[in-house]
Amino acid sequence: MAKLYIKHASELVTCKGKAPKHGKEMSEIGIIEDGAVLMEDETIVKVGTTQELDGIVDEKDCTVIDATGKTVLPGFVDSHTHYIFGGYRADEFTWRLKGDDYMSIMERGGGINATVVPTREATEEELIAIGRERMNRMLEFGVTTVEGKSGYGMDEECELKMLRAMKKLDEEHPVDVVRTFLGPHSVLPEWKGKEHAFIDYMLTEVMPKVREEDLAEFADIFTEKGVFNAEDTAYYLKHAKEMGFKLKAHTDEMFPIGGTEVAVKEGAFSCDHLLKVTDEGIRLLAEGNTIATLLPCTAFCLKEPFAPARKLIDAGCAVALASDLNPGSCFTNNIPLIVALGCIHMNMSIEEVITALTINGAAAIDRADRIGSIEEGKQADLVMLKFPSINYMPYHTAINLVERVVKKGKTVYEKVW
Ligand code: NIG
Ligand code: FE
Repeated sequence: MAKLYIKHASELVTCKGKAPKHGKEMSEIGIIEDGAVLMEDETIVKVGTTQELDGIVDEKDCTVIDATGKTVLPGFVDSHTHYIFGGYRADEFTWRLKGDDYMSIMERGGGINATVVPTREATEEELIAIGRERMNRMLEFGVTTVEGKSGYGMDEECELKMLRAMKKLDEEHPVDVVRTFLGPHSVLPEWKGKEHAFIDYMLTEVMPKVREEDLAEFADIFTEKGVFNAEDTAYYLKHAKEMGFKLKAHTDEMFPIGGTEVAVKEGAFSCDHLLKVTDEGIRLLAEGNTIATLLPCTAFCLKEPFAPARKLIDAGCAVALASDLNPGSCFTNNIPLIVALGCIHMNMSIEEVITALTINGAAAIDRADRIGSIEEGKQADLVMLKFPSINYMPYHTAINLVERVVKKGKTVYEKVW
């Protein structure tokens, strides 16, 4: 049995809990000063102060890491990404800098549809190779579990190819991948005006194959003006649920067209974006179990006002933060930038940001019982930062402070400063 013992962490941030934290609970991150954690194989077996654990741990059996002057946290969960895609859209970014908006670029054939051709052209092996590189970059930022969506194929062959690539990456790479089917991500010209028929095609032709090969656990949709409306969303989510998918939805990003209301009603695990969430949407999110997943780097890159994180938390919602890594609206998976935007522009405390990147991120992908906190029985996924306190995370602004990543009880990344 392999034992790893980390001791003398200046701050050991536990984020203890097996359920999402709502509202004020998001500030309770359970810091243990001079903290220690013992891991056996893939599992955390003891957590406490170094003094408590020194009394029961036999160091002769363990690999010991001295975390003096360091902060130790649960591994970050990036619960919303589109990291598998072919091609790039750097030209669009420059158009946006000159003032074009995301939706107008989409209307002229850019946007999501522009990524479909290169993604269809890429082989599965090519998607795996580029996905592997992107996952290596995630690991450097302390991400130990990532959610990845399909959605740049929008036909059977390419949607399945994207998901198969992620399934293989999950098997070979230390970062765990939770897969989401996002067939209704956009409307290709040939389906314009036939959105309902497109959803039926996905439900009857593509999604049964996704289930058969166990390629995705979640089903997601882009509910937006000019994309899929609330009625299409309700129909899709209801049928996806009947097929055994857990649900997610992109809602209230540009226009509030009722997506959040519908997704909460269908029992979605998360509603994501929420820049324009309504008061009614906030009330429903606060009352229910759906996580409000905010993607600050997307708002930043699109020069849109940030989602109302403060209002959501004060109303009692469970907020998660994720990167939204994708080739269009947000080509970054920079966790320190999320921390900076959360604290500086969304008026979240660093404690709330940490909850949003750990236990609430885990809850958004139905993993709060296994990951997202440092506590006995959970998977041994954690990160060690170069500095002694969580307060360095926003203060050393947008700098990656991760110096070690432990995944399933093994060090999988170490940084030489
Ligand atoms: O979450 N909003 C829809 N989908 C992605 C963008 C994907 C793209 O632009 O390629 C998002 O931001
Ligand atoms: Fe997205």
